Amino acid sequence: MKRIGMLTSGGDCQALNAAMRGVVKTLINGKEEVEIYGFIDGYKGLIYSNFRMLTGHDFSGILTKGGTILGTSRTPFKTIKDPDENGLDKVEAMKQNYHKLKLDCLVILGGNGTHKTANLLREEGLNVVTLPKTIDNDLWGTDMTFGFQSAVDIATEAIDCIHTTAASHGRVFIVEVMGHKVGWLTLNAGMAGGADIILIPEIPYDIDKVIAKIEERDKSGSRFTIIAVAEGAISKEDAKLTKKEYKKKMEKYPYPSVSYEVAAKIQEKTGREVRVTVPGHTQRGGSPCPYDRVFASRLGSEAGKLIVDGEYGFMVGYKNREIVRVPLEDVAGKLKMVAPDASIVKEAKLLGISFGD
Ligand code: F6P
Repeated sequence: MKRIGMLTSGGDCQALNAAMRGVVKTLINGKEEVEIYGFIDGYKGLIYSNFRMLTGHDFSGILTKGGTILGTSRTPFKTIKDPDENGLDKVEAMKQNYHKLKLDCLVILGGNGTHKTANLLREEGLNVVTLPKTIDNDLWGTDMTFGFQSAVDIATEAIDCIHTTAASHGRVFIVEVMGHKVGWLTLNAGMAGGADIILIPEIPYDIDKVIAKIEERDKSGSRFTIIAVAEGAISKEDAKLTKKEYKKKMEKYPYPSVSYEVAAKIQEKTGREVRVTVPGHTQRGGSPCPYDRVFASRLGSEAGKLIVDGEYGFMVGYKNREIVRVPLEDVAGKLKMVAPDASIVKEAKLLGISFGD
């Protein structure tokens, strides 16, 4: 008999349910007797002992369902060691609840912040197995996270739809894609949607280079330009600021987001009409794409095997087309970013895409 605690933490994404279903099906089909404690709203559920007993039935019919049947919330790692408003030691509370329920392990699904806390719990002696979720695809130790491909599909569709209207009006269109720290989603959706310019956090842009690309397209007879901008895209000037200087600048930032700044600058310098579209959280919503359903199921299945084997302290990842076990201490606290000289960036440039650098 295995007593398993399960939680989903951080921003949601597609295929969280598919991944949890993969874990549970593998255990049940392996004739493992299991008791599943589903903690509600991520680490909060574990801290405040808010859980629901789940059976195999709860995991039936959820393969195609977006969101998470357990609910999720952000519990920042930065403040995890600070007591809560009532003086409760959150880490101690998680440990006590784990031991009180006599859990054999925790299955934790999440992104970067979630993995830092998962690793802390491992260091505190708890058995932990994690699964890599995030539309950002920025977790170190895995070539891919689930949710990413589904989000690429949605962001690409947004760019596709803009294409027809951009062509009719001869305007410059900006589509803002999610990703504050990394540009994987913008880069992939931008390439898939045929964007002319792609701006990502890892490659600071020069607005004059962006405008030069628009003018080059004008001269060549293209009536419109599509720019895919990551939420965290940053200009070369801003990239030179210290953290403190940047924070100060952002206090008086007059735009809702970077896309509006880029739009205003293009408009100001060229007189061209520019429109901004922000698909926002639609990128994390809806049904997982078929790729993610299969991928998350495979990852979940491997997590189930780890539990059967009693092997803990791993994230289940994906490397060179193989499902792999990655030690949690190697994953926690590291971001997988787009290298400015990565081959995909070079190839995009050869296709004529400008990164504004
Ligand atoms: O980490 C996933 C993500 O969707 C990012 O791409 C985005 O910047 C952020 O979460 C948005 O966070 P929230 O849902 O808290 O607004």
